[in-house]
Amino acid sequence: MTRRALATLATLATHLLLAGAALAAEPTLTIRADQPGPVIHRNIYGQFAEHLGTGIYEGLWVGPGSKVPNVRGWRKDVVGALKALKVPLVRWPGGCFADEYHWRDGIGPRSKRPVKINTHWGGVPENNAVGTHEFFDLVEQLGAEAYVNANVGTGTPQEAAEWLEYMTGEGEATIVQQRRMNGRDKPFRVHYYALGNETWGCGGNMRPEYYADLYRHWATFLKTPAHNRPQFIASGGNDRDTTWTEVLSKSIRHNFDGIAHHAYTFPSGKWEGKGAAAGFPEAEWIGLLSQVGKIDAVLTQSRAVLDKNDPKKRLALYFDEWGSWYDPEPGSNPGFLVQRNTLRDALLAGLHFHVFHAHAERVKMSNIAQMVNVLQAMILTSKDQLALTPTYHAFALHIPFQDATALPVTLEHNPVYQLGGTQMPGLSASAARGKDGKLYLSLINANASQSSELTLRVGAQAPRSVKGHVLTAAAMDAQNELGKPTQVQPQPFEAQAAEGQLRLRLPAKSLVVVAVEG
Ligand code: AHR
Repeated sequence: MTRRALATLATLATHLLLAGAALAAEPTLTIRADQPGPVIHRNIYGQFAEHLGTGIYEGLWVGPGSKVPNVRGWRKDVVGALKALKVPLVRWPGGCFADEYHWRDGIGPRSKRPVKINTHWGGVPENNAVGTHEFFDLVEQLGAEAYVNANVGTGTPQEAAEWLEYMTGEGEATIVQQRRMNGRDKPFRVHYYALGNETWGCGGNMRPEYYADLYRHWATFLKTPAHNRPQFIASGGNDRDTTWTEVLSKSIRHNFDGIAHHAYTFPSGKWEGKGAAAGFPEAEWIGLLSQVGKIDAVLTQSRAVLDKNDPKKRLALYFDEWGSWYDPEPGSNPGFLVQRNTLRDALLAGLHFHVFHAHAERVKMSNIAQMVNVLQAMILTSKDQLALTPTYHAFALHIPFQDATALPVTLEHNPVYQLGGTQMPGLSASAARGKDGKLYLSLINANASQSSELTLRVGAQAPRSVKGHVLTAAAMDAQNELGKPTQVQPQPFEAQAAEGQLRLRLPAKSLVVVAVEG
């Protein structure tokens, strides 16, 4: 063989090797449909509505006399959109507001209720028009469960015990008669009752040991008819801190069903100078999305703590505040936590869902902050207008995952998405067997500029096809603004197997949810 022929052969071999390596490096996703995991509790898709800014007043409640169409004061358009989202649960009245809320201010004729100042959020008047009866009217209109958060910070054990008795009592006690006189004969169904919120901070700046003793004391007096006993929740830690999980799970025994944990995400990763909700550079796109890794880490660690202190797995983890938090929207009251909601938020929500599904054995509820007009909202309103945010669509696409059975997935050759010093997995996936028996798959391509192809398998087989929706847009900060054309909404997505392989092309910055066939 001549030297030239040898050189050609060597070049060819190199090309073949490179091509082989490229093929081997293609992402492959395998769904282990034969290894069912825990049920993904529908309350993982729960919501949070606090007396904060226009989250309740204006956004949801306009009052029965309003020109905005309403049912007993609750906006028809917003409630309709939330019903379509199959909201399974609403947490109320806070948040930090809960530890300044006295429930007796919110019962009886609305005209006689006291006006207070919402000192935590914006210093605005709170006329208590929305109280216990109105809240339960809302959740009953939605067909959702009720999560009531009691006041520990400025309340008393008597006040917390009596609120529960007022809501759930059945007998002749005066407090129950009072509920009847206020228009409700049948007890309210309270599914969850928490003592305090962020007791490490706005709820009283406590130490976990002090709060654990306080919880033991207060919980002693929480009594209800057996068939209307809520899950009782202790206020837990924040962000990466699992000390509270450790102390609470070791020290409390009675009337204790779960621990609440909070973790928000900021593009900069810092509380001061969080970053803008829109008009951001790619560094802040990946900066925000990459932080979902910390949610996974804190849940892994919390589960390890609970497995040690609660091996019988009686206690649940309730991730009852999460979501994006940006610098205040220019021109808005900083205490109202108004922020734009973009495609980035939709992907952030999807990444959280994947993590919550993966930890569904312990995580039995999560509540995004917050449902309307506040932080990472589902819906934005102004007067009689309404816009469904990209986050709304992320929730809507995942409806089949409510009460579905989680299925493990393996993702080989997951491309790394890197920008500057920040990196994260390029692709994320979660699969489940829906209550309807179908196999559902949720996929995210976090890369802001590159599409990705992946090969899909169910066990060793290539499925026949997938069909569902994709959520993406041209700009990272595409959003649905009030009174303007919609920019972000799900579009049909499907793919068929060819030559024994099912390959999916995920556009850059996309969320895809499909039913897998065959
Ligand atoms: O969701 C806004 C606030 O964030 C809540 O009131 C508080 O619990 C948290 O710090």
